[in-house]
Amino acid sequence: MSAIGKWPVGKWRVAVCCAGVAAMVSGGCTRAGERETVQGEEVAVLTDAPQVPPPITRDHPTRVIVNLEVLEVVKPLADGVEYSFWTFGGSVPGKFIRVREGDEVEFNLNNHPSSRMPHNIDLHAVTGPGGGAAASMTPPGHASTFSFKAINPGLFVYHCATAPVGMHMANGMYGLILVEPRGGLPPVDREYYVMQSEFYTTGKYGEAGLQPFSMEKAIAENPDYVVFNGSVGALSGDSGLQANTGETVRLYMGNGGPNLVSSFHVIGEIFDRVLHEGGTMANTNVQTTLIPAGGSTVVEFRTEVPGTFILVDHAIFRAFNKGALATLVVDGPADTVIYSGRQSDEIYQPEGGAIQSMTADGTPVAPPPMAATMAERIAQGQRTYAATCAACHQLSGQGLAGAFPPLAASDYLNADKQRAISTVLFGLTGAVVVNGESFNSVMPALAMSDAEVASVLTYVYNNWDNAGFDVTPAEVQAVRQGGPPVSAAVSAE
Ligand code: CU
Repeated sequence: MSAIGKWPVGKWRVAVCCAGVAAMVSGGCTRAGERETVQGEEVAVLTDAPQVPPPITRDHPTRVIVNLEVLEVVKPLADGVEYSFWTFGGSVPGKFIRVREGDEVEFNLNNHPSSRMPHNIDLHAVTGPGGGAAASMTPPGHASTFSFKAINPGLFVYHCATAPVGMHMANGMYGLILVEPRGGLPPVDREYYVMQSEFYTTGKYGEAGLQPFSMEKAIAENPDYVVFNGSVGALSGDSGLQANTGETVRLYMGNGGPNLVSSFHVIGEIFDRVLHEGGTMANTNVQTTLIPAGGSTVVEFRTEVPGTFILVDHAIFRAFNKGALATLVVDGPADTVIYSGRQSDEIYQPEGGAIQSMTADGTPVAPPPMAATMAERIAQGQRTYAATCAACHQLSGQGLAGAFPPLAASDYLNADKQRAISTVLFGLTGAVVVNGESFNSVMPALAMSDAEVASVLTYVYNNWDNAGFDVTPAEVQAVRQGGPPVSAAVSAE
């Protein structure tokens, strides 16, 4: 089915007609303010990510009062890592602001008396010098007011522009303002607000404690953290995004930078429609879309099948090693025509398949010598772990909240050695609870020899406060001969 076929075409045409260029060419609409009269006044509803204020139902522009408070707060950046964030509204990203094309916005920027720094705001939705920056420069304990007319519809970034600008942005001072086209956007079942950004800390990724900002790393554009919504794991586990099958989902995506361009992708979904760079032009059937630093995009898709869908920056080390990972859990009945799940798992043995690799002169490469002692298994296992396991479970075994269970101090591993061997040999699908947190993802069966499995598990068991078990190749062989556990065997049929 084409994406166009999935969307309410009539409504979609209305939105395009009223969204700007096409409408102006047709003569059906004019630029804001030329025909429409501003009526009434209202105070804007502001929301913290990932929530979005309700759609605007007015058929006329109004005077909108925005009250935004600047707060400097210490909050978690990752598990055990604290950071002193400078914020618009107490969280990163800043509050979501939603107005309508043609609205006249009275903007009140209030800098809390506890702040140490002056701050201001540059809204990309503003047509005027600095996007309001000079007019809104506000010392601690002061309030500034300016106003602007929302002439252009679109999804716009706002950010602090107080010197040093890079530092104010790197500390978390950015958010999104949506200027809805006068006809509104097509209705969807769910709307969410997600913003990517980077953090530069003096300590390396995961180093515990209150981490100061590193100007040196920021100038080198070498962040320790790339995250969605202000911290590692902000949008995973219980805090992840949710939807049901058959629903339409719209993500308002921003990129606060301050340096990196995002290659935004949702693993297992195709964007039916993308409002390119947060503007009016729509693209359809998009896999990965760019979000410039200081830019945005709007992506829409229909959820067809249940499962966990993972939002990433597809510059993929940022996702699995720096935090740019969030989850969307879709509940509902399966549709096995659209996606079957695994239907079979059989041995594939092409002719000559027993010879895994050969040297230049054609002789088979000898397998690495088998580790004979527990100490050798730990050493060999460390290399296997770094090459195969660390991408998901992380180098220090802490896992990724909502996606990959921790192997460090893992009650699940330490309770049952045979089960751990079986998991590595045959994979694991479905819900598990590890250290009190539930995970529902897929670990693939890994093509490793008995010796490799023994070594990597011995390494894991002898690190990170685990039980200290030794796992021998003979034990692995025994589990392998016993075959996959019943649940795995059933799912493979
Ligand atoms: Cu600032």
